[in-house]
Amino acid sequence: MNVSKVMVVGAGQMGSGIAQVCAQAGYQVLLNDLKQELIERGLGVINKNLSRNVEKGRMTAEEKQDVLGLLIPSTDLSDAKDVDLVIEAAVENMEIKSKIFAQLDEFAPAHTILASNTSSLPITEIAAVTKRPEKVIGMHFMNPVPVMKLVEIIRGLATADEVYQVIEEMTKTLKKVPVEVNDFPGFVSNRVLMPMINEAIYTLYEGVATKEAIDEVMKLGMNHPMGPLTLADFIGLDTCLYIMETLHEGFGDDKYRPCPLLRKYVKAGWLGKKTGRGFYTYE
Ligand code: CAA
Repeated sequence: MNVSKVMVVGAGQMGSGIAQVCAQAGYQVLLNDLKQELIERGLGVINKNLSRNVEKGRMTAEEKQDVLGLLIPSTDLSDAKDVDLVIEAAVENMEIKSKIFAQLDEFAPAHTILASNTSSLPITEIAAVTKRPEKVIGMHFMNPVPVMKLVEIIRGLATADEVYQVIEEMTKTLKKVPVEVNDFPGFVSNRVLMPMINEAIYTLYEGVATKEAIDEVMKLGMNHPMGPLTLADFIGLDTCLYIMETLHEGFGDDKYRPCPLLRKYVKAGWLGKKTGRGFYTYE
């Protein structure tokens, strides 16, 4: 099976990044969201990223225009009628994702692969709302998508080998490195990363050190590019909490209990960089 036309559902931070790397690899990309202005915002971010590439001499102005020309706005999921692959990057909510996948299953042709960029929700459960569970798979990109090399490829219980292979090859064409993972809560990335971030929040909560000190220890001591509290702000504290809750519920193990301070910040609306305040404040 050959992938040439892709639909990305969700034009937010992740969706626009995924659309960008797909268009840069030469795929025609339908960028779908509920409203035109959300798509415009996503396209604005892509435009800015591509302009930086032109300034840095990594692409010509003409190549930038070619990439932008491959991006087609869409506000209707029925536009999936002539795509080979859909990558869903909507909000992390099972109810919403289930609705989207049920509709995509209805509109997309039989050969179309339906992928989710979910960061922790079960692929098997998402697949179960469709009549093509063998063609449903996880493609978990990392933030910021244009920079990070990894894509976790998650096999649901029913994902066909052929589908896995198509997605693995397609991921390589995006100049990303696919890593195969089975379907368990948080997959590998967030099962390892989020408890580390949660523990850093506990360390702050218990007064072991200041936020700056905690981040400095992990940056200078472990060579992490960002300290865990800065990274939590970057990911979004609501997302961090949601993933911890998914791990807690999925494994039924209290070692994944979210730190009360994380809950408190989310309740206060301190969601990190995107709201201007999390562990740190942002202009
Ligand atoms: N979009 C596109 N490009 C970006 C970018 C963005 N949002 N942010 C940074 N970049 C680019 C910069 O333009 C720069 O490119 P050039 O070299 O061409 O100038 C390059 O990345 C490096 O950026 P900076 O020099 O500004 O800053 P930095 O060296 O500190 O790197 C970083 C920034 C890449 C974000 C780095 O801090 C980092 O790797 N942080 C950790 C990121 C991480 O852990 N991501 C995973 C999060 S978990 C996740 O995504 C999964 C989940 O489900 C929650």
